[in-house]
Amino acid sequence: RLLRTAGAAGAGGLALGAAGGAVAAAAGGDPAPTALASVGATAVAFHGPHQPGITTPLQAHGHLAAFDLAPGAGRKEAAGLMRRWSALATELMAGEPAGTGDTGVALDAGPSSLTLTFGFGHGFFDRTGLTDRRPGGLDPLPLFSADRLDPRRSNGDLWVQIGADDGLVAFHALRAVQRAAGDAARVRWQMTGFNRSPGATARPMTTRNLMGQVDGTNNPRPSDPDFTRRIFVPPAASPGAPDAWLAGGSYAVVRRIRMLLDDWEGLDPREQERVIGRRRADGAPLTGGTETTPLDLHRLGPDGLPVIPANAHARISAPEQNSGAAMLRRPFSYHDGIGPDGTPDAGLLFVCWQADPLRGFVPVQRKLDRGDALSPFVRHEASGLFAVPGGAGRGEYVGQRLLE
Ligand code: HEM
Repeated sequence: RLLRTAGAAGAGGLALGAAGGAVAAAAGGDPAPTALASVGATAVAFHGPHQPGITTPLQAHGHLAAFDLAPGAGRKEAAGLMRRWSALATELMAGEPAGTGDTGVALDAGPSSLTLTFGFGHGFFDRTGLTDRRPGGLDPLPLFSADRLDPRRSNGDLWVQIGADDGLVAFHALRAVQRAAGDAARVRWQMTGFNRSPGATARPMTTRNLMGQVDGTNNPRPSDPDFTRRIFVPPAASPGAPDAWLAGGSYAVVRRIRMLLDDWEGLDPREQERVIGRRRADGAPLTGGTETTPLDLHRLGPDGLPVIPANAHARISAPEQNSGAAMLRRPFSYHDGIGPDGTPDAGLLFVCWQADPLRGFVPVQRKLDRGDALSPFVRHEASGLFAVPGGAGRGEYVGQRLLE
């Protein structure tokens, strides 16, 4: 098989679908290797300073799953599980089968930009006897006034994010992760999402969400000078610090946000644009320019009011309105049919990444909760907060610096 390595997400690489990259390796014992199409051939490295699936370009298919450690399972079982999951992720992300019991679901396909990312929830530390090493960033999120959270679909001891540009490859990885959990952990909740497929647009473009908005434009970019500081946990002040194990890691805030699509779609398109502060057609600010033109938050219209309304989502959530609070949003859309109320059970599996939730999600959501024009059209239905360890080095498993 011919494999490509995904280019590290550079400027413009985020949220744009499959990355390109040089042909990296011709592997396998196949006498006449079959060249995979470029979507299938793209592989992302599992080992490195950070886990994959954070700065990796958005994939077309995703699964989020949370697990609770089984009754009686503690630190030893957790370490064994992370060792198994890390070995599995290394194989699958290289396009290899999942050991001898492989189900065959991903046969014929390449890795298709598959990534597996692992995190630990608040309860993990009590269950493993490591309460004193739980980082402060895992303190439970505050309740927001508009929250309608289902506890059965929230939180969890362990979290796995799977993304791939092929639906079968993503499902195959999900099943393999579940099987490898063995007796150590049980699924608590699981959600499935999607984004635009690579190649669906004439050129790589920022994806759209199910409200039709271009979504992801003003994300921090790896080329920004403060990107690493904002997204990844810095090295601890002293090597003996209780949370030193999290250096190079990040915090993932996960929110299942239902979109009230019947209400939204009944809104005049011009009103829809005022809710966000950007044009629907191309994502450009209402103050003009192209998608990447900065918002002019001070411009007044002929009526003397701000062109980008005071309660526009993009204004309220902008870092300059929140003492610099920033996060990397990397969501999947979801659609689970029609809910009991007869409206689509659809929306955003909102996943955002930051070095500290108190300098990212929390202050921004607090502000959105008080007066975002988008609030009447969305409902937060589930929530999770996970500490995501730094990437594993070769021969190491994810979380080893905590669990060994
Ligand atoms: C920007 C949609 C929830 C934080 C945007 C934009 C859209 C959007 C269309 C403008 C384009 C862009 O820069 O990406 C949505 C939808 C949501 C949602 C449909 C719910 C279903 C949230 C939540 C947060 C958030 C829960 C964080 C608490 C942000 C931030 C920006 C943004 C930080 C960039 C602002 C800037 O710097 O210009 N969102 N959003 N969003 N959103 Fe949301």
